[in-house]
This record gives sequence, C-alpha cells and structure tokens, in this order.
Amino acid sequence: MSKENILVSVAWPYANSDIHQGNVTGSYLPADIYARYHRLQGNKVLMVSGSDSHGTPVTVEAENLNQTPEEVFTHYHARFLQLFQKMGLSYDLFTHTDTENHHKVSQDLFLSLLENEYLYRKTTPQMYSPITNKFLPDRYVEGTCPVCGYDHARGDQCDNCNTLFQSAAELINPRSKNDDTALELRDTEHYFLDLPALADDGLSDWLNSDDKAHWRPQVINFARNFVDQGLIGRAVTRDMTWGISVPVDGFEGKVLYVWFEAVIGYLSASIEWAKNSGNPDAWREWWQNPAARTVYFIGKDNIPFHAIFWPAQLLGAKGLYSDEHQAHLNLPYDVPANEFMNMEGRKISGSRKWAVWMLDALERYDPDPLRYYLTVAMPEARDSDWSWQGFVDRNNKELVANWGNLVNRVLNMHKRYFKAVVPDPGELSARDTQLLAAIDAGFDSVAALYDGCKFRAAVQECLRLSTLVNQYLEETSPWTTANNDIEATARSIYTAIQAISGLKILWAPILPFSSQQLHIMLGEAGELFGEQVVETYAETTRSHAGLTYKGATAVGTWQRSEIPIGRKLPNPKPLFKRLDDTVVQEELNRLG
Ligand code: MF3
Ligand code: ZN
Repeated sequence: MSKENILVSVAWPYANSDIHQGNVTGSYLPADIYARYHRLQGNKVLMVSGSDSHGTPVTVEAENLNQTPEEVFTHYHARFLQLFQKMGLSYDLFTHTDTENHHKVSQDLFLSLLENEYLYRKTTPQMYSPITNKFLPDRYVEGTCPVCGYDHARGDQCDNCNTLFQSAAELINPRSKNDDTALELRDTEHYFLDLPALADDGLSDWLNSDDKAHWRPQVINFARNFVDQGLIGRAVTRDMTWGISVPVDGFEGKVLYVWFEAVIGYLSASIEWAKNSGNPDAWREWWQNPAARTVYFIGKDNIPFHAIFWPAQLLGAKGLYSDEHQAHLNLPYDVPANEFMNMEGRKISGSRKWAVWMLDALERYDPDPLRYYLTVAMPEARDSDWSWQGFVDRNNKELVANWGNLVNRVLNMHKRYFKAVVPDPGELSARDTQLLAAIDAGFDSVAALYDGCKFRAAVQECLRLSTLVNQYLEETSPWTTANNDIEATARSIYTAIQAISGLKILWAPILPFSSQQLHIMLGEAGELFGEQVVETYAETTRSHAGLTYKGATAVGTWQRSEIPIGRKLPNPKPLFKRLDDTVVQEELNRLG
C-alpha cells in the first residue's frame, strides 16, 4: 500500500483559560488517536495546532486580570504545552497565532481574497465609546434587553431570555461594560467576505458533492442546511488593536477578525513546521497534493467555521502560493466534529469550577486511564457525560480487569513456568492458530474503525479481542497442564504472548504509554512512537520567545510482531492500577 499524506488539523484552544476534559475528548484526543494510528500504518502524518491568542476572549481576560493580552496568552500557552506533553498529545507542531509567520500567511491569504474580488468594503454603524474614543466589540457592550427587559444583556446575547442579537445596537441604553459609560453608534468601515459569490463559485458544489458519504451526518447536514438557507457576507475585520493588522492603507487600528485568521493557522502552522524541518516546501505535500487527506478535529460549536467559512476562504484564495492561477489549496477531507461532554449530568462550566482540569487530574492519575475513559465516553454521536464513578468503574472493570490483568497473568505465568524465557511451542494446535488468526484479523477491523474516526467502537473491538485471549486461557488452562503436560503449557503461553504482542499495537493509539511499557516488557527494541520535546523557535515568533511542541514520528508497525523463542523477557510490572471507590467522593468534593 502506498503511503498517504494525512494532515491532522486540531482545534486551536483560546489562550484565556486552562483546558478541561470537554476540550480534550472533543478534539485533541481523537486527533491524537487518529494521528498515532496513521503513523503506525506508516503514513505521513502532520498534526498541527496552536494557541488562539487573539480576539476578545483573550482581551476580556486580560482586562479582568489587569494584564496585557500577551501576558495572558503566554501564560496559558506554556500550560498547554505542559499538558499536551503529559497527556501524550503528539502534535508535530503546537505553535500560536502571534508568530511572525502566522501574521504573514494570514495577510497573504487576505490579500489573495482581495485580489480575487471575494472581499468588499462596507460601512456599518457600530457601538462607539466617546469617552475612550474606541469602537467596542459586541461582547463589551451591556444594556437592557428589548425582548425581556433584563438590564444586563450583552451586546451579542441576552443571558436571561437567550435572544441572540444581530447587533449590539438593538439594546436599549447601551453602555460600556468596562466603565459603565453611555455608548453611541458611529459608522465604521470593514471588509466582508463575499460568501454568496463563493457559494456559487464552488462552495455549494463541494458541499453537495457525493464524496461526503464518510462524513458524520450531523456535520454534513448542518453545513448543507446552513448554506441552503442562504449566505450573507461576513465581516472579517474588527476595530481592535490586539491582533493581526489589516494589510491595506487606511485600515490602521483595525485587525483581522479572530475567526478569520485562527483557521488560517492550519496552513501557517504547516508552513512553520516545514521551515523548521529544513525543507520549507514540505507543507505542499499536505496542501497541494490532491491525494492528501486533511481532517479537522473540532467540537460541534465550530462546525460553521470549518465546514463552511474555512473552505470558502480556501476556495476564494485560489492561486495562493501556487503558479497555477485557478488552483486552490486542499479542502477538508473530513470534519469529524464531536458533540459535547457534560460533567456529572450538568453542563461543563469553567467559571463555576464544574470541570476536570486536565493538568490537575494528571497530578493524581496516569495519562492512559484518563485517555481510556475519555475515549469510551467520547461524544461522537450525541452528548456524553463524565462521571467520576464511571471513570473508576471503567478503569477497574475494563482496563484493569480485561486488558491489564490479561497481560499480568500471561507474563507472570511465563516467568513462573519458563523463567521468563519464551518457550518452544512445538507445533501449534488448531485452537492456537485460530486465536492468532482472530488477533490478526483485528488489524483490519480495528484499522477501519480508527480510520473512520469511530474510536468508541475501536475500544469495544480491542476489548472483544482481549476477551478472546482470556477465554483461550480459561480453555487451555496452562496452570493446570503445568502439573502434567508442560508442552501444552508452553503452547498456550507462547500463543498468548504472541496475542498480547498484537493487542499491544491495536491499543497503542489510545494507550500509548502502557503499550510502550508492554513493548519493553516483551523485550522489543525502540519506541513505538517518536519523541516529544518542547523547543524554542525564537526566529519564528513575533513579539516574544514562544514555545513550539515538536512531536512524534513513529515507525510503521501496524502488525503483530512475533516474539521469538528463547528470548528472555524483562521483569513484568502491572500496566494499570486499580482505583479505590473512595476516589469518587474525593473528586466530587473538589467540584463546584
Ligand atoms: N479558539 C476557538 C475555539 O476554541 C477556535 C478553535 S479552531 C480554529 O472555539 F482553528 F478556528 F482556531
Ligand atoms: Zn432578554
């Protein structure tokens, strides 16, 4: 099979708060599982993302803390790097949107849209503070709701009656959230992306083409309906100072809208990675080779931005970084957006401390049990729930009882009966070869599930295969035959070792740490996955020394490797720990 180029594009976290379990299960973990699976297949994976450092989420937090936006985003960016390293989220590059490179690529894409006449200027009235001489983003505006009369409605939404406003101008007595002073409407000019023109020039055809059969129905249906209801132009600039300046004379004091430029990060990060790799053109393999697959891992609230607006930007920027005038960069191959994860039956809320802060949880739990639970409870088709009881139960009854104990049993018997030297099984029985054939078939069935982003089903398939090995041991009962038929014991222990050697790989995308540990316990050399390091690339950052995360490049090993007769295996240690039930109450006490 020829090797494929796979771009794993992962949602860019806003650098204004720590990361909780909903973010991880929603996009970062599924992306990592998918990337690791494809690396094991020997495909050429490029997994990129970074901190989303601009926009009002960061400036609002900065004002709350009396810090600069740069201080806020640098603080969280550093914590993201720590978390991703500890959780084993193997980004080839985790950068941020304040690099010189990202500013440049964003402006290039903007200028390409301008040249291709997909941007137009329009003047609209906007909230203005005569006291501070500034236009205010809608989120900075507060006033009385015209629908229910609530007098702390925000410029974009009323939190009392949930009405969404087209513009903050709909509020009665609008005032500044910062200083409570009265606001007025003033005209301001912005660039708008001509979405109706782009719908006609390829977007609708692309969305409606029948090569979308592998898309999740809720994603493709949402996008098609959205476009069918009729698109209107969207403003892609804002009156703000924190962000990327608009590369046009007369637009001083305005920046590119954060959503317009954050999605460009997938491209700019690929380019930054290529520069760092020593081959500045390497990114083209993922963006210009039509056979490459680009897959976007995001939460459902991000669907319009990835399934509609970003493809529109790519279509409109035809000719960008290409000799061919009409060529556009690759459109998304898939956007396997997840639904939401709740927490103990309620919506996750960072501000109400109703969440599992992942960096904190990693102080108490190993990464693989957390990854396991976040995979079995992944909100792939509908909203799911994190419960601490669920975490403890899944850990004890599945991860430990099924997979962990199997490894323990086999390697301990191997040590007891054969002094940890892989025995000669003689000729395998039909029962033995049947078991190994079933495990080998797993390399097709589990592969299809990983490749199709059906990670919950992949876990179930791995558990089923692991159960087959447990049943095989019950049937062949090597602890009984050890008394009178050591050759039979040799056959079943040998066979079981080969079976767990296969399962080690099948589990590895979800459980990379314990699979690596088992790899060593089976006497195998090297690393299943590449090294993950945090590096500083001062030359690619704009205003401060930023960190980028240099990720893994695994060897292609999507197969069961034979553990040879006569090999002495190292001392086995348990892969996972049982968790005490008291953990549940302890963790619930930390909440809220
Ligand atoms: N920071 C935004 C969010 O967390 C956007 C994520 S994806 C991006 O919702 F590529 F568009 F940045
Ligand atoms: Zn209201």
